[in-house]
Amino acid sequence: MTSEDIRKSFLNFFEKNGHTIVPSSSLIPDDPSVLLTTAGMQQFKKYFTGELDAQVDFKSQNTTSSQKCFRTSDIDEVGDKTHLTFFEMLGNFSFGGYFKREAIKYAYEFITEKLGIEPARIRVTVFAGDSATADGGVGVPYDKESYDIWHKEIGLSADKISKHNRQENFWGPTGNEGPCGPTTEIYVDNVEIWNIVFNEYYCKPDKSLEKLKMPGVDTGMGLERLVVMMQGVDNVFETDIFHPIMSKIFELRPGLDARVARILSDHLRSSIFLIGDGVRPSNKEAGYILRRLLRRVLAYQVTYDIHADLFPSVAKIVADKFGTFYPEVKKIDEILEVLEMERQKFQTAITTGLSKLKKYENVTGQDAFYLYETFGLPFEIVKELAPAEAVKNLSRQDFDEEFKKHQELSRAGAEKKFGGHGLILDTGELKAHDEEELGKVLRLHTATHLLQAALRKVLGDEVKQRGSDITAERTRFDYSFTRKPTPEELKQVEDIINEVVGKDLPVGFIEMSKEEAEKTGALYFFKERYPEKVKVYYVGHSLDEAFSKEFCGGPHVERTSIIGNFKIAKEESIGAGVRRIRGMVS
Ligand code: SER
Repeated sequence: MTSEDIRKSFLNFFEKNGHTIVPSSSLIPDDPSVLLTTAGMQQFKKYFTGELDAQVDFKSQNTTSSQKCFRTSDIDEVGDKTHLTFFEMLGNFSFGGYFKREAIKYAYEFITEKLGIEPARIRVTVFAGDSATADGGVGVPYDKESYDIWHKEIGLSADKISKHNRQENFWGPTGNEGPCGPTTEIYVDNVEIWNIVFNEYYCKPDKSLEKLKMPGVDTGMGLERLVVMMQGVDNVFETDIFHPIMSKIFELRPGLDARVARILSDHLRSSIFLIGDGVRPSNKEAGYILRRLLRRVLAYQVTYDIHADLFPSVAKIVADKFGTFYPEVKKIDEILEVLEMERQKFQTAITTGLSKLKKYENVTGQDAFYLYETFGLPFEIVKELAPAEAVKNLSRQDFDEEFKKHQELSRAGAEKKFGGHGLILDTGELKAHDEEELGKVLRLHTATHLLQAALRKVLGDEVKQRGSDITAERTRFDYSFTRKPTPEELKQVEDIINEVVGKDLPVGFIEMSKEEAEKTGALYFFKERYPEKVKVYYVGHSLDEAFSKEFCGGPHVERTSIIGNFKIAKEESIGAGVRRIRGMVS
């Protein structure tokens, strides 16, 4: 059976049993509590809760689908035999139509009769029940009903049915609230293939459970894993789903390391599906996930010198293989345009970063962070592509620590929220939503210090800070000055800043009492109330010969070269004697 046969046979089986086939929803979910679609049930959440009526929308209380899913949790494992970022999930759902008995019987019938799997190869798990959980959740009783159906009605012997706790046999919710309940899972040859969820509860954000008015069924069976089993191959990349992509990659680059080829296949296929659903590379949320995948692809392409036909040929294979079922991947031109734009943006930085990487004798967490911040090299790539000797002691923890240091250095009152939502840096003056924005904000922050110093050099000491606000897009600096600076003066300011950038001066700080700090001549913002002990940030080799020194909480880049090219985008008056500059770095 090909993967297409298996997908079709699943949907037809459930259609014959009174289910309406519903097309996959987009990878970009309606549900704002999750970044990407991770399960088949997501598009049906409101039918489980009774907010929407399946009978009205689907002419049936039961539906079936093959859903596009993306799980970031497995990204580090990709390259082994089973893990993927993008995958398809086959599922059947019931919203108050049938419950445990039918769900179990359908699953068993499909596996043994449609797929022809020997009953002897099958074993299952059910929920063992628990009392209150450590994190404040309430207890849920043992699912005896499912056990009895498997044992007495299906006829599985007791040694084929095991009972597990909440971690194994309880689903949900997706996001911070939603339908949830005990599960029963089906294993073939000890590989889990099918997860059947009995949605009996609604999990609330405070972890309490409310009984749903109408119990529902949500099942999920990963297509790729099922196909591995049905085709009797060793790993997912040998199935008909991935084989054509893998062969093409080896054709474009004979002898390529198999793990690299697998990662390329997975990441490219995922990227194409994400782009097909309208995700665009960016520094935020789903766009950032796409960007991470593509950067890794680009880094491999540069390192292993893979033919430039990689993008167009894989896009074509994906369109041919999946376009009938998922028409959005047939928009090859649009998809290629996005891929190419991203290449143009990052290829140079990545190439420079990779060549710097090769020269390291020892990469510290700090170096890894620098390579990430400046050239966009993901940690995985640093670890993998630097000389082996140089990274033998480097761990992800070192990198994470460095990362954290940069965040902590900052702030008073910065806010870190779960899952990359919300702000990771918020000092009032600086705001960043994710690591990439953070990098940009740091560059703009140091640039803002240089801007103030340069303005004073060109326009005189009349210039004093009146306000500042920095996002990943721009810095906005307000200063006192009584006339409009000429274009030549502004050009001079830019030139001075870029000269300091070109000198690659270090940026440091010294902590001292406010009184001492004032004596150093460091600039401070009169509106701000400073504590007794302050940090003086300076740009230069020492505080005495610094180009700029200011009272500041940080954080900043470590060296001025990281800032890149600075440009004044706009200069205007915003009130009597107060002017505003918007500046950008590139
Ligand atoms: N929602 C469950 C899962 O994703 C069953 O579909 O495993």
